Amino acid sequence: MTRSGSSPLHAYRGALVDFVADPHDQGDAACRFIDDGVLLVRDGRVERRGRADEVLPALPPGTEVTDHRGKLILPGFIDTHIHYAQTDMIGSYGEQLLAWLENYTFPTERAFDDPVHAREVARFFIKELLRNGTTTAMVFATVHRVSVDAIFEAAAAENLCLVAGKVMMDRNCPDFLRDSPASSYEDGVALIEQWHGKGRLHYAVTPRFAPTSTEEQLRVAQRLLDEHPGTFFQSHVAENPQEVGWVAELFPWSRSYLDVYDRFALLRERAVFAHCIHLDERDRERLAASGAAASFCATSNLFLGSGLFDPQRAADVGMRVGIGTDVGAGTSFSMLRTLDESYKVAQMGGHRLSPLRAFYLATLGGARSLYLDDSIGNFDPGKYADFVVLDPAATPLLERRMAHTEALADRLFLLMTLGDDRAVAATYIGGRRAHDRGALSA
Ligand code: GUN
Ligand code: ZN
Repeated sequence: MTRSGSSPLHAYRGALVDFVADPHDQGDAACRFIDDGVLLVRDGRVERRGRADEVLPALPPGTEVTDHRGKLILPGFIDTHIHYAQTDMIGSYGEQLLAWLENYTFPTERAFDDPVHAREVARFFIKELLRNGTTTAMVFATVHRVSVDAIFEAAAAENLCLVAGKVMMDRNCPDFLRDSPASSYEDGVALIEQWHGKGRLHYAVTPRFAPTSTEEQLRVAQRLLDEHPGTFFQSHVAENPQEVGWVAELFPWSRSYLDVYDRFALLRERAVFAHCIHLDERDRERLAASGAAASFCATSNLFLGSGLFDPQRAADVGMRVGIGTDVGAGTSFSMLRTLDESYKVAQMGGHRLSPLRAFYLATLGGARSLYLDDSIGNFDPGKYADFVVLDPAATPLLERRMAHTEALADRLFLLMTLGDDRAVAATYIGGRRAHDRGALSA
């Protein structure tokens, strides 16, 4: 003990990279870079970030210093949209959204009524997040209550900050996955009481998407949120043109797909909508004004042939945006791979997604989307010491290409273009090493 009642300081040395808030989510967020830096951690939280030549001489004698020199230390990645129950169906061939749901997703999710199966997949899933440097995720479980217990238990075992919820789905789905307005209310209340605010866990009210909920069930979603302030909301919107047409038939009174959620007051702070591809200008402005966020799911949108999200227009209206891998429609758990594809999607729209903005979106942008930026997202004092150590020489090609690359933005761009889980040397949760690439390969 270095001070009575508090645990020892731990110092992590390396190149520190984080971002400060861009209140309007426009342009490049301000990047803070300390080439030879130290992150000081006490009791799982950041105590200070600073230059090594200033911080190290002032440390109490005996302070342990973990040396990550030659590597970049960034806030852990925040994946704002992913389905843990779809881990075993990643890379399913040949379909676009609606047939993909019918043929692959619903049969796969059926198995999550079995708690043993759910627990096994949940544990693998959390390990996979950590292997990829993801320290927080917003997660869809399935319609089964036990599937939610399984993912929260697995996250709690690693002290992960995780947002998750039970899928609500009372029509247009197989009987074996169908709940009802009444049962989804009861299950929602029970799960919120059991899990929301327990440690680092948060509950999200989770109607799958408008086509699989009756209006009565969307009203239940609203009620759960209103009766439990501080809970989250997640769903899908405007992903695929056939889906958009179907929503117009199912809700003939609606002005747009997004308007369906708006009618039930589901556009609000702490609400995250995956995809947001086929929106019009009015939708975009409404989404931004509501305080809800969009999750940009590039690999999924390409894999299912859904369309191209427009990160520039989202930024122009001041929309909160985070990055989502959307496994299992997404094809990688890696936020680096996902940033690579996000850059290409922006290119297809004639825009540049700068590396600084990309890494901002994957860290603080995600935290702001979830309204968790008071506790995660960068290295401000008091935040959880959730961080990822990236190795710029992780592969022969990265090492070779990096050799002639000095500027931070260029190095980050190569990491997102060429990097994947191999570039994640270590992942820390609350200052505890939860993944160590070296230990695995040793
Ligand atoms: N829309 C409704 N459900 C899903 C899902 O599981 N994945 C994706 N990508 N879109 C959806
Ligand atoms: Zn999804």
